[in-house]
Amino acid sequence: MAMKLRPETALTFDDVLLVPKRSAIRSRHAVNTRTQLSRSIALAIPVISANMDTVTEAAMALAMARMGGIGVIHRFMTIERQAAEVERVKRAEGFVVEQPHSIAAEATVQAARTELAKYDIGGLLVHDANDEVVGLVTTRDLLFEVNAQRPVREVMTPRAKLVTAAPGGSIDDARATLRNHRLEKLPVFDQEGALHGLITAQDIMKIEQWPHATKDSRGRLRVAAAVGIRPGDLDRAAACVHAGVDALVVDIAHGHSDGALDMVRALKQQFPQIDVVGGNVATAEGVRDMVVAGADAVKVGVGAGSICITRIVTGFGVPQLTAVAECAEAGRALGVPIIADGGIRTSGDITKALAVGASTVMLGSLLAGTDESPGANVVRGGRRYKIVRGMASLTANIDRQAVEAHREVDPEDWERVVPEGVEAMVPVRGPVKDVIYQLVGGLRSGLSYAGAATIAELWEHAEFVRITSAGKHESGAHDVETR
Ligand code: XMP
Repeated sequence: MAMKLRPETALTFDDVLLVPKRSAIRSRHAVNTRTQLSRSIALAIPVISANMDTVTEAAMALAMARMGGIGVIHRFMTIERQAAEVERVKRAEGFVVEQPHSIAAEATVQAARTELAKYDIGGLLVHDANDEVVGLVTTRDLLFEVNAQRPVREVMTPRAKLVTAAPGGSIDDARATLRNHRLEKLPVFDQEGALHGLITAQDIMKIEQWPHATKDSRGRLRVAAAVGIRPGDLDRAAACVHAGVDALVVDIAHGHSDGALDMVRALKQQFPQIDVVGGNVATAEGVRDMVVAGADAVKVGVGAGSICITRIVTGFGVPQLTAVAECAEAGRALGVPIIADGGIRTSGDITKALAVGASTVMLGSLLAGTDESPGANVVRGGRRYKIVRGMASLTANIDRQAVEAHREVDPEDWERVVPEGVEAMVPVRGPVKDVIYQLVGGLRSGLSYAGAATIAELWEHAEFVRITSAGKHESGAHDVETR
């Protein structure tokens, strides 16, 4: 039987370089990195943190959304926990704290100080025995109080003297009131006098620190969540939707399968208002079938990830740049953005993935060493590392079975697992904002080399050259002792 072979050679990141083009861009700040995650979700930067249990839970998703990207909360935990992680992100950045901490009017100054320190906050509402709000006590009220046994009632600002806000006001109104009265806290009461929350100057400042944050129509940070394709995953999706999730990601190694397509269809039917990302695929047919099933974005990458051994174990995969190029062409014809997932090691790789047509990139191990990724540091040979593991690795498989069965997995069952991923270590890299700053800075510079002010212009202008191993050697620092 003749071997069926595609005529063209498939390429990946290190096979090519982008050719510099005449540029009218005078500074890398003059480029715009805005893009689409999916049909209806826009991002200020084209970067997504991966749905892996060593990469994205609430802390990472919060940081990613603040910077203008987005995180996908992984699914290797109970439904309740995943929904709680989604909720943590959705509750973080409303400018009104809906359930502020409070203390009894008869409690002591000492107790108030303890509470403020415990929650690391600057003020507490004060309630009476009937749970009515009777005042507000702040660190300033307590600063020079020498009698730690005095009741809070005697040092608080009583309700009658409080400056307050009505529900539904804008962030600008709140800022103006805080400024005019030189205040840090503004309780929100409705006309009947019921408490609706507390506005704090600190929260407003935090919001203003991140002007490009990815937010929904109510001003809350956006977050995505991964689901599998078992019947129970519809319950998982429902819990995440209830918690306020903005997009659902069908997270399957071989996304071009009836099971994944059925799941995309079911999710779109049940939650038509939520964008659904389908994946992973590596061909134009895969993209088309996903879009016909209802996907609002398609994730591309089979075996490209740093911790993947799918290509070794199964013999399947398409080198990532060719896969993304082919899928992006199909995606563009169908009006659906493509996510390039896996294998990205540098900002140059991000520029290349976008240049062949992706709208965003998904990062796994590049972000796994940051402060915001789940897991503790480990020390090896005097250096600090964090763990990153493939979601089809041996230990991830065992842990998943344990979550599903609510018990430890019998060691004898370990031998039945056929892993398609590995567990590895990555160096500790500090706050994710520093890593993203470098990556996006490199991308911005890349856009200017292409003479492109936007990602859409990069798609138009990009031209690649194939390189040899000598060209690759020349590309890195070479023939010098790097320190
Ligand atoms: P990077 O290179 O950014 O890749 O670390 C992250 C992506 O790798 C995929 N992934 C896997 N692929 N076996 C695989 O073949 C695995 O166990 C595995 N775990 C994650 C996934 O697409 C992720 O976003």
